[in-house]
Amino acid sequence: FSTLAINQEYIESMQFEVIAQDPKSKARAGKITTPHGEILTPIFMPVGTAGTVKAVHQRELENDIKAQIILGNTYHLYLRPGIELLKKAGGLHRFNGWKRPILTDSGGYQVYSLTENRQITEEGVFFKSHIDGSKHFFTPEKVMDIERAIGADIIMALDECTPYPCDYAYAKQSMEMTHRWLKRCIRRIEETEPLYGYEQTLFPIVQGSVYKDLRQASAEFVAACECDGNAIGGLSVGEPAELMYEMTELVCDLLPKDKPRYLMGVGTPANLLECIALGVDMFDCVMPTRNARNGMLFTTQGIINIRNKKWQEDFSPIDEPLGGYVSTFYSKAYLRHLIMNKEILGAQIASVHNLTFYLWLVNQAREHILAGDFYEWKKQILPIVSQRL
Ligand code: GUN
Repeated sequence: FSTLAINQEYIESMQFEVIAQDPKSKARAGKITTPHGEILTPIFMPVGTAGTVKAVHQRELENDIKAQIILGNTYHLYLRPGIELLKKAGGLHRFNGWKRPILTDSGGYQVYSLTENRQITEEGVFFKSHIDGSKHFFTPEKVMDIERAIGADIIMALDECTPYPCDYAYAKQSMEMTHRWLKRCIRRIEETEPLYGYEQTLFPIVQGSVYKDLRQASAEFVAACECDGNAIGGLSVGEPAELMYEMTELVCDLLPKDKPRYLMGVGTPANLLECIALGVDMFDCVMPTRNARNGMLFTTQGIINIRNKKWQEDFSPIDEPLGGYVSTFYSKAYLRHLIMNKEILGAQIASVHNLTFYLWLVNQAREHILAGDFYEWKKQILPIVSQRL
């Protein structure tokens, strides 16, 4: 198979190396190497659902936010612009111009959260498009073929994300189906070749709702598949944070130490810090971008609702200590004016700012893991970044 030159080395598939371990928690700093470059962990991955991180240019992602990897969604990209077009473009990297790593989610979450009248069967899931109501059918095999066509470096298996609350019997049978779907995904990936000359790495997803025995069974099943990275799904769906932490810790302890662990759809700055301490390496969430568009800003001093009248005449920079262009150049009063007027620039500035903050936070976490004082740093920073200003 084909290889790609990265820093004069040739890599055939994803690699992961743990570089440092925090002495007082399970936090670790690592490095993932993909065909499109390196990712230093722990990492936050901005969500680029439709092949765009909403309101953010590639240049800002690279130079201001310093994103190392972005997400795409199989469900959205399949519906629009469609797989044939993405193949003609030469994959998502060629289509949107992002040269660094991309991860695609499988649609296992979007189908359940965005569509009505979906029907889940052993063979796959029937759903109606949230755009035009057209009918579609996703099987594990079809989703692997779509993810091949999108061409992300890391591709997620098709799963069912159970809602919260979810009764035990449903959670168990759903988890077992997710496991059977995973086997089908693995088989399909083994049977097919990447379309664009570089390897793609499949991540399985642990499910099991909030039941300890199911989470344990799922983590053990997933670990036995010996994939190059593993994900934890079905959390941050409305359960109390303490339950999310309990499940995350239980699963992290059972997943291989020498493979990256990805906690899907999480979360707030506090959630990130707590879950890094439990051994999570990768995160994604729409929160920094979606909330930005509504005027919620995450800063080094705490959380701001910029629509609040108290910022009307505050001409200080959005977040001076954070640094970065938008956070130091624009004032709170000006950003408030833009957001209140629903100006497009308001969404742009707030999105770049929030993502700059999220990437700063995980980079700080990494630096403190490397320095050996992550635990103490987390204790000090967590109340500050979570307070409402
Ligand atoms: N994003 C957030 N949670 C999940 C999940 O459980 N499954 C998938 N596929 N994506 C997610």
